[in-house]
Amino acid sequence: MVGWRSLLFVVLIAFIAYNLQTPFSKANLEPSLVGKVAVVTGGSRGIGKGIAIGLGETGATVYVTGRTVSSSSTNTGGPGGVPQAGTLEETCAEVVKAGGKCIAAGVDSGNDEQLREFIDQVVRDHGRIDVLVNNAFSAVSWLPKHAGKPFWEKGADAWDQVNHVGLRSHYLASVFAARHMTTAKSGLIINVGSFGGLNYIFDVAYGIGKAAMDRMAADMAIELATDNVTMISLWPGIVATENIQDGALGGMSERRGLAPGPEFDTAALVQSPLAETPLFVGRAVSAFARDRTKFDFTGKVLLPATMAAGYGVIDERGLRTPPFNSVKFLAAAALKSTLQEQGLFAASTELFKAVKPTANMELFWKKLPDLTVPQFILKLVAGSPNL
Ligand SMILES: *[C@@H]1O[C@H](CO)[C@@H](O)[C@H](O)[C@H]1NC(C)=O
Repeated sequence: MVGWRSLLFVVLIAFIAYNLQTPFSKANLEPSLVGKVAVVTGGSRGIGKGIAIGLGETGATVYVTGRTVSSSSTNTGGPGGVPQAGTLEETCAEVVKAGGKCIAAGVDSGNDEQLREFIDQVVRDHGRIDVLVNNAFSAVSWLPKHAGKPFWEKGADAWDQVNHVGLRSHYLASVFAARHMTTAKSGLIINVGSFGGLNYIFDVAYGIGKAAMDRMAADMAIELATDNVTMISLWPGIVATENIQDGALGGMSERRGLAPGPEFDTAALVQSPLAETPLFVGRAVSAFARDRTKFDFTGKVLLPATMAAGYGVIDERGLRTPPFNSVKFLAAAALKSTLQEQGLFAASTELFKAVKPTANMELFWKKLPDLTVPQFILKLVAGSPNL
């Protein structure tokens, strides 16, 4: 009979060994993306904008797509039907300032023919498409408006609002890009997924769409493998986007039914280093795009915060948000008020603006190890018990 002490010891050794390995390493990175062409769908704001700037910082030519090209474009996609912050032209100005090239492409991802024509045009103009980031999502204002209602009251509208520009457009953009990437025997496709693909957060159609994005990456990766094309699903953590800062999650706490797991006070975390900035996600994506070993990760779900830890990526606050499957993340969330008193939580910042963290903040958020647990444990503890 193995005693609990020996068992604990084995688990501890395994945990330490797991944390000593560094799957993502700075040593594997190409220095830049100069000459590479990337497409980010949904680039007017939020995570898409952060990824575009992150790619631009390392010299890529970035196409950002969306419907809000300039401030004169019609835009009622914000919470409550108000215009959302940001336009493609504003994103491009920041991509260029960061050192990249940028093209604002007025493309409705919901229109199959426009999407195909656009990707073919990119390849006609540059002879290549190296990176596709499937990020466009049009239900940012629809979701909070219908929070608290069950799926049977939302009807077909939920499916179409959440999964047309989102799941379906990601599938098609991947089809069109893969035609060129497989011919070139090189390329990277990233689905911007979510922890919501594993566990209920807002809405049934949302969970289905996010789960399908992970599965899409896994299954497309199998067929893309013969042609040296990498595909992954990326799960950002809580990201301090313009819409989230403007309260896009308001009303989301009106969750019905069973309590599906630990509750986080998202509104409080968004103003802290436990929230990733969009640029942090972008810098992790840029590093991954430059990683010579990226194909080793094909088909997987990856967390930008885990990549950032391995690559040594920090955000514009000078900080590195720990991944949500880490002891550091969970402990910091639990000890929020203590960390606040120590001044370690005071990191709220205007998006994309550099700020100077204190030495203690740097020590805590940048240097202290994260102590992560393997991702499959998330499936065991937080996923629906469907296995
Ligand atoms: C696979 O693609 C990468 C870039 O994505 C490239 O560096 C490498 O040479 C390619 N390998 C083969 C065997 O074509």
